[in-house]
Amino acid sequence: MADGLLDGRRGRVVTVFGAKGGVGKTTLAVNLSVALAKLQPEPVALLDLDLELGVAALFLGLEHKTSIIDVVRSPDPPAITMEWAMGEAYGVRVLPAPPNPDVAPEVEGDGKIDPNRNYVEEIIEEARRQARWVVLDTGSNFREAAMTALDFGRPVFLLTTGEVPTLRNTGRVLDVLTTQLRYDENNLRVILSHCLQADRQKAQVVAGALDFPVWREIPYDGPAAVEAANTGVPVVVGRPRSPITKAVWDIAQALIAEVEEENKESMASGSKAVQAPKERGG
Ligand SMILES: Nc1ncnc2c1ncn2[C@@H]1O[C@H](COP(=O)(O)OP(=O)(O)OP(=O)(O)O)[C@@H](O)[C@H]1O
Ligand SMILES: [Mg+2]
Repeated sequence: MADGLLDGRRGRVVTVFGAKGGVGKTTLAVNLSVALAKLQPEPVALLDLDLELGVAALFLGLEHKTSIIDVVRSPDPPAITMEWAMGEAYGVRVLPAPPNPDVAPEVEGDGKIDPNRNYVEEIIEEARRQARWVVLDTGSNFREAAMTALDFGRPVFLLTTGEVPTLRNTGRVLDVLTTQLRYDENNLRVILSHCLQADRQKAQVVAGALDFPVWREIPYDGPAAVEAANTGVPVVVGRPRSPITKAVWDIAQALIAEVEEENKESMASGSKAVQAPKERGG
């Protein structure tokens, strides 16, 4: 990662968001990052933007001493500080969330050293210079870090489960994103997590309830998910036969195929940009 992307292109940002806690955002963000690192040779970065309670590093068995707060507090630009602040696990470069929730306002709130800077935006931009894939794990809120992550995501994964309260919130979030914030609907992908394999109709029911297509399902596999969280060995590594692994693998392959397709098109049209800087949506 130290050398950055030598061809000068910017990395592709994939944002994992959810309308409610516990829907499997971190599980997807972590496993997708590892799958991308295994499936293709270019650098992958995972930024934990769940600033209050993020545990992405722990999911990767990283007991890391530095975090995003060190990048924000340093007088040096992120290009220098991220180099030493990030850890590495399973081929993924990881920028952990702060160790304690009380310092989160220094990154995105009223504790910012410079209130006019969007530190999260600067950090994402730097990660895009260094990695081909930048996966963003988020908290379930609409504060600056999450809003910035939503702006950069291409695509944005909106995780939901099939439970009524979660569906209600997912519907509200879809409404805010598409109606009020005018995000491109094609850039939003609803993923149904914790999906019981016996319940084959669930995706259709959920899509009907949300009036929005379900792009992929991540099956329920409690033992694999719990083991992964407790051991710090991601499901895609420790449980290759879990249905979660199969689903994440499929999502990673779909993303890679999309980017390859876009690169072919942009080569044909003479453009070098994988993703134009700071564009919203498609
Ligand atoms: N597909 C799955 N099947 C079964 N359990 C799962 C699955 N995905 C995640 N879990 C479990 O659900 C819990 C929440 O998962 P995770 O931490 O990934 O969600 P989250 O949306 O990031 O939560 P938070 O909002 O707290 O950050 C964890 O105990 C995890 O092991
Ligand atoms: Mg999480």
